[in-house]
Amino acid sequence: MAEATMQQATKRNKQVVLKEYVKGMPTEDNFELRKSTILPFINPDGTKAVLLKNLYLAVDADLRRQLSGEDYPQIQLKPCAIKRGSVISGYGVAKVFKSTNPDYNEGDYVWGITGWEEYTMIKDDPQFLRKIKHYPDVNKSYYTGLFGIGGFAAYVGISNVAAPKQGEVVYISAAAGGVGQLAGQFAKLNNCYVVGSAGTDEKVHLLKNKFGFDDAFNYKKETDLGAALTRYCPNGIDLYFDNVGGPLLDEVLLHMNPNSKIVVSGMISQYNHLEKPDGIHNLFHLVTKRIVMEGFHIDNDNLNYYDEFVDKVSEMLYCKNITYLEDPKDGLENAAAALIGIFYGENIGKQVIVVADED
Ligand SMILES: NC(=O)c1ccc[n+]([C@@H]2O[C@H](COP(=O)([O-])OP(=O)(O)OC[C@H]3O[C@@H](n4cnc5c(N)ncnc54)[C@H](OP(=O)(O)O)[C@@H]3O)[C@@H](O)[C@H]2O)c1
Repeated sequence: MAEATMQQATKRNKQVVLKEYVKGMPTEDNFELRKSTILPFINPDGTKAVLLKNLYLAVDADLRRQLSGEDYPQIQLKPCAIKRGSVISGYGVAKVFKSTNPDYNEGDYVWGITGWEEYTMIKDDPQFLRKIKHYPDVNKSYYTGLFGIGGFAAYVGISNVAAPKQGEVVYISAAAGGVGQLAGQFAKLNNCYVVGSAGTDEKVHLLKNKFGFDDAFNYKKETDLGAALTRYCPNGIDLYFDNVGGPLLDEVLLHMNPNSKIVVSGMISQYNHLEKPDGIHNLFHLVTKRIVMEGFHIDNDNLNYYDEFVDKVSEMLYCKNITYLEDPKDGLENAAAALIGIFYGENIGKQVIVVADED
């Protein structure tokens, strides 16, 4: 191709790069905004490839694990560490810009693993990429949360792992985040009594007035978490949906009822020191109260009923049986700050980066 035509065709490709491995809390210094370019022509060597135009990126807490340069083999969770100098990769929503992969056509909307950049080239078979089916009332950005990994986790965690019964007391931590807001609403649909905690009064207001929680409290304002749990769950807790882990989990163990259940969705309070997590001291309560504690995560084993989940939950949304809140931030320039922000509780609802217009 003539050089002039190539230059004309070259597209700008802003990228968010991991500049330094993260130790402790992430800071802006760990990331760099790189101004790169990409040639929107693919298949020069005859292999199949998809070029994605990224639209929305999910700001997921689990990304923190991948930024430390450690693979944590004992944790056995994929995807593994992102290498220093590489573009951040994670879940997002994109439009197929060019394709020589017979499974994807130009113009298809997809969600799955992509890059924190304007365009992402995926050669051979994508690691994880699914076509988006259109449903009324469903924004495509919802595939970063409600219909992405977090929403599916809330659904699997409540419906399949916890299966709470009518009247049971359910307590949810990080309740105003992407997972918590949905886990609480799914538990309400099972006619449970649902209490949530979050770190600002604004979030507490949302939990009670938008998401329909029976009660909620601002854990950052409580000087004695045990006293708060006694106040909000005076008859004890039948199901703890744990998004946080650490000292809060330790305290909750004291408030669990006999034959109750702790479903562990995540442990965000530990992600910035996974190499030396906090100790839990009250585990003997598992024995004396016959508490079942079960963790889960979304992987290929549960993705086989993902389509059924989307059908069911889009119907719930359409019928206004559930509602969903996301917190969009414009531009890759703000992506690093958005990721840092979730560890300070700055997001209200699912944190999403808006990269480009859908068209
Ligand atoms: N099992 C799975 O397959 C799966 C899938 C997706 C996500 N998850 C897990 O689910 C949990 C929630 O994810 P999400 O997407 O809902 O998160 P999110 O929307 O990003 O919300 C994160 C919230 O967690 C709270 N938080 C942050 N650091 C904390 C700390 N040190 N102590 C207590 N609270 C803290 C903050 O809210 P406040 O402080 O204001 O409450 C923050 O806004 C995470 O642990 C994540 O890893 C699990």
